[in-house]
This record gives sequence, structure tokens and C-alpha cells, in this order.
Amino acid sequence: MHSIMEQIQTKRILLGLTGGIAAYKGAELTRLLVNQGIQIQVVMTEAACHFITPTTMQALSGKPVFTSQWGEHTADHMAHISLSRATDAIIIAPATADFIAKLAHGLADDLLSTLCLARNCPLLVAPAMNRQMWESPATQRNIRQLVADGVTILGPVNGTQACGEEGMGRMQEPTELAHTVLTFLKPKSLSGVKFLLTAGPTYEAIDPVRGITNRSSGKMGYAIAQAALELGAEVTLISGPTALSSPHGAALVNVTSAAEMFEAVQKHVADADIFIAVAAVADYHVAQPREQKIKKSSGGLTLELLPNPDILGYVSGLPKPPFCVGFAAESHNLHEYAATKRKIKKIPLLAANLVQQAIGANDNELILFDDAGEHVLPRADKLTVARALLQHIVNLYRQGE
Ligand code: PMT
Repeated sequence: MHSIMEQIQTKRILLGLTGGIAAYKGAELTRLLVNQGIQIQVVMTEAACHFITPTTMQALSGKPVFTSQWGEHTADHMAHISLSRATDAIIIAPATADFIAKLAHGLADDLLSTLCLARNCPLLVAPAMNRQMWESPATQRNIRQLVADGVTILGPVNGTQACGEEGMGRMQEPTELAHTVLTFLKPKSLSGVKFLLTAGPTYEAIDPVRGITNRSSGKMGYAIAQAALELGAEVTLISGPTALSSPHGAALVNVTSAAEMFEAVQKHVADADIFIAVAAVADYHVAQPREQKIKKSSGGLTLELLPNPDILGYVSGLPKPPFCVGFAAESHNLHEYAATKRKIKKIPLLAANLVQQAIGANDNELILFDDAGEHVLPRADKLTVARALLQHIVNLYRQGE
């Protein structure tokens, strides 16, 4: 985080706390941001004050906390205007289901909702609620509305909830939120740079019911897409079947088979400055997928498999290729296979991971192979690893410009 701060030009954040148990995490978020030199103005709803006191927030932020439109700090009772003008971004953390509903409908019945409505700066919202409340059609409808209105939604994440239930609805941890806020304030170093990514598995049909696929979840590719978006890049994400939602701001192209992925890459590659092949593409497809379901018989079944096009090989072999980054997932001999793969594919950078630790997992460790040698990106959650990988890619890409 230290280097990020040096690049931040704007340094004022309004932190809104609403009435949920995760309000206590607002204290830690404030501490982390203040330590980075950010000025924090805290505004609390009446309900938030039941969970954590304004005195605590004032002590951590070093500024008087606003709790009411009719409060003591502004003589003209125009706090909703003055506060929303004196900040570079507003973050609501935690944002309750009720507050999200208010934002989605433009309600303004307290200071925090009023200043959100009056704002002329970006709004970031970190939901925190019980999983049933998060999954309810009403909340999901409200979230879709906020996304359509240009609001950035941070999380929530899966895990154990204060009520004892397990599921989606936990607020992101303060460290993650602080990182997002700092990145959000940072100048967009990849503004105007176009990324093309492949992610996830491919699915090769055998018949209408069965197919050949692999255990790639898409998490690594989607995390890289997210990291590129954070730096202001334009991202086209060509994805095989996954259970993930597209990172906000990416142009998602859904495909199923390797042939479809190849076709989509051919269609979009001319525009790309950087191509990152994260997908676990099936090496083979079934020569003649059956139109009808294959019936079981007592004998064996032989399927003829034909090789799929090498998508990365095709892109790196173009007369004017984008900057190409390949991946290699190996179960053994990682260094040897990865270095060979980089040479065969003729690419400047290859990221290698151990398949048994990487595929489907939330964490990853990468070893990068480039002309300068090997570089380890230590084990961390995939978004953290993706951000470090992006930094490496950007450095190499800028050297070649
Ligand atoms: O999706 P996750 O669950 O998060 O898991 C991430 C991952 C383990 C799948 C990812 O990090 C990874 O390593 N992806 C590459 C998988 C792999 O081993 O690919 P490969 O060795 O088959 O191919 C090497 C490179 O060529 C890859 O960049 C691949 O995308 C590309 N390729 C391969 C075959 C093909 N027909 N076309 C390609 O473009």
C-alpha cells in the first residue's frame, strides 16, 4: 500500500456507517486509511450508533462525526451539500439491506442518504447482511439498480455470519476494502489499454448430455480481469462455463467449446494490446459429437478425439501480436515444462502454477518466466496474486512500448 499512496492525488473519503454488526469493522477501515494519509469524514446513521459510538470513530478519524442533518457541526444545516462536495469518493461500509434499498430508490430521509443523493462524486457500497436478506429478490433488484446507476458494489463475501448462518452476505474485510479504496483513488495507469483474456474451462460435447471438461473455475482469469479494470484498462473477457459473475465493467463473451473460444478470440484480437490466456482449454474435441444421447450397451465405447486449435499459439503467431501472456498448470516438473511451454508458444511471459494447488482454489502461487528469468508471486488469494501479476505485465509491456 505504501507505493500506492505516493501516486494518489486526491485524499478525502467520506465513510458512511449504517446499522449492522459489521459497523465495528468501519473502525479498522478508518484506521487503515488514516495510516495511508487519507482524510476520513465519518457520517453515521442513527442505527449505526447502536453498534459503534461516534466517539470511537471521531478518535480514529480525528474529525467530528456527523450523525444528523440537524446536527451541531454546520450552522446552515446544509451538511448534505458541504459534506458531499468536500470528498473525492463516498464509501458506505457496512451498507445494510435497508440503506441499499434507500439508495436504489433515491430516498433521502437522513443525512447519509441525503448526501448520497446530492453527491457529485463516485459512490462505493460494501453490503453486509444475513444471507437470506442478500439473496432476496428485492435486494438483488436494488443491487442491479445501483450497478446500473454507476455505483461500485464491493462484495459481499461468503462465510460465517454474525447470526451463525453460513453464506453470502459478510462484508469484505477492512484490508480488502482499504486496498480497493486506495486503488480507486490511484491514477488509472492502464487507461486506454485494451486487454483480451480467456478464462475458465471449455466443454467439448460428446452427445447432448455428456461432454469433456476440466475443473477450472475461472477464478484466476476473472481476478486478473478485475485487477486490470481497477487500473482503468478496457477488458474483454472470453469465458468458458463458470459459476462466476462478470467483473463489473468487463465485456463478457460467453463460450462453451474451444472452437467457440477460438472464434471469439479471432473476432476480438485485432483490438487487443495485451492478451492473457488463462483458460484451461481442452486439447481435444470429439470428432463427431452425437446428436442423440448415446445408449448404454454391454460393449465398450470408443470416441475419436481430434486436436483443438492452439489459441495462444495462433495469437502469438500473428504478424502484429498483442503482448502475450500464457499460463501453464502442471502437476509435476513445473519449472522445466513451463520454461519449455514459453519457448514453444513464443511468448514473452508465462505464469506457471501447480495444478493441484491452483485449479478451483481461492488462493494461488505463480512462478513467472520471462527473458530475465524466474519470479515468484507468493501464495495469496487470487485477486492479490492477479494484482501482482498485472504489475509485472505492465512493467514488461511499458518497456516494449
Ligand atoms: O480457473 P481456476 O480454477 O482459477 O484455475 C486457474 C488455472 C489453473 C486454470 C490457470 O491458472 C491456468 O494455469 N491456466 C492454464 C491451464 C493450462 O495448463 O493450460 P495448457 O498447458 O493446456 O496451455 C498452456 C497455455 O496455452 C495456456 O495459457 C492456455 O490458455 C493456452 N492454450 C492451451 C490450449 C489451447 N488449445 N489453446 C490455448 O490458448
